[in-house]
Amino acid sequence: MTYQIVTLPGDGIGPEIVGEAVKVLEKIAIKYNHQFKFNEQLIGGIGIDEAGASLPEATIEACLKSDAILLGAVGGPKWDTTSNGDRPEKGLLKIRETLKLFANLRPAILYKQLKCASPLKEEVIGDNLDILIVRELTSGIYFGKHERVVMENKKATYAEDIEYYNVEEIERILKVGFDAAMKRGKKAVIVDKANVLATSKLWREVSEEVAKEFPEVEYSFMYVDNAAMQLVVNPMQFDVIITNNMFGDILSDEASMLTGSIGMLASASLGEGSLGLYEPSHGSAPDIAGQNKANPIATILSAAMMLRYSLGLNAEAYAIERAVECVLDQGYRTSDIMNEGMKLVGTREMGELICNAI
Ligand code: NAI
Ligand code: MG
Repeated sequence: MTYQIVTLPGDGIGPEIVGEAVKVLEKIAIKYNHQFKFNEQLIGGIGIDEAGASLPEATIEACLKSDAILLGAVGGPKWDTTSNGDRPEKGLLKIRETLKLFANLRPAILYKQLKCASPLKEEVIGDNLDILIVRELTSGIYFGKHERVVMENKKATYAEDIEYYNVEEIERILKVGFDAAMKRGKKAVIVDKANVLATSKLWREVSEEVAKEFPEVEYSFMYVDNAAMQLVVNPMQFDVIITNNMFGDILSDEASMLTGSIGMLASASLGEGSLGLYEPSHGSAPDIAGQNKANPIATILSAAMMLRYSLGLNAEAYAIERAVECVLDQGYRTSDIMNEGMKLVGTREMGELICNAI
């Protein structure tokens, strides 16, 4: 099969880490007899510099024609003071909006080889923590259409933000979540605050309906305050967590930090169809850009998610994930995950080791 993949390397370490992920995908293509056609486009600061916009038209057009999008990172001090109002980060927000990517998937996986990086005790974190947080990304309180501030003598005396969800928005994110659960451990926890919020009660009603389409998935509900606690007390109980925009924002940061290392964490943003945007959870790391120091694993694991969720290539995705584990088992580490007795390697070497392991 032939697949069209748009790459958006972006700024800082972006080009280095995307370069390694492309190498890994090329290796997969050979091994599994696929053809990946890569089309590199501009986004972020480099878009502003070379095409006058953080999200040039040509990028949008290419993305709409593609099967999947792999992004590095955007931003850096160089663009902090641009005066025309455009900023690298705007490119990211705009691409999510334009492609209607309403579901954000953030896995928190702790590799047993990196256990000492976790802030939790060894017996709590266990041996194979693997949680997937599915967060609604384009509605809820952050898109408060009615937010308002009441002023009196130039001082705000009252402000309000409104949490809003309609059935359609809840249904589509739940379907993504249940579908992801089907591809994993078949367990989903829907996190809400249904003892207080009307929107949460609606989420529960819709969940009961959507769940009927996924009879194999075992699901339950949990209040968000309890979920925040359970994540540190007994994180091993979770497989997939499905939740709204605000709760997902907070819980995904909490869950990702259980693993202790930003250089290892992938993410995906999905919409209604199969088109998705895949990127590492970290930023452009300007402090180490161009030094062959960045850990490419978060981006390589994002490429694996791309194979699984946009291209339906589950075995190929699994092959990448296994290769990453295998290289960690061999003791190779980039500087962000380095610990005593291990072998320090750079960005390119890590990419090559993973290719070889495949
Ligand atoms: P950052 O994630 O870029 O860096 C935080 C720290 O983690 C730095 O010390 C960096 O060297 C390290 N780090 C990050 N990724 C790494 C990797 N793959 N390997 C090894 N070390 C790594 O966050 P920061 O410093 O807050 O932001 C830097 C720039 O990135 C800013 O312009 C920010 O706006 C942008 N940013 C972009 C994001 C995106 O494109 N999705 C997300 C977050 C920040
Ligand atoms: Mg956040």
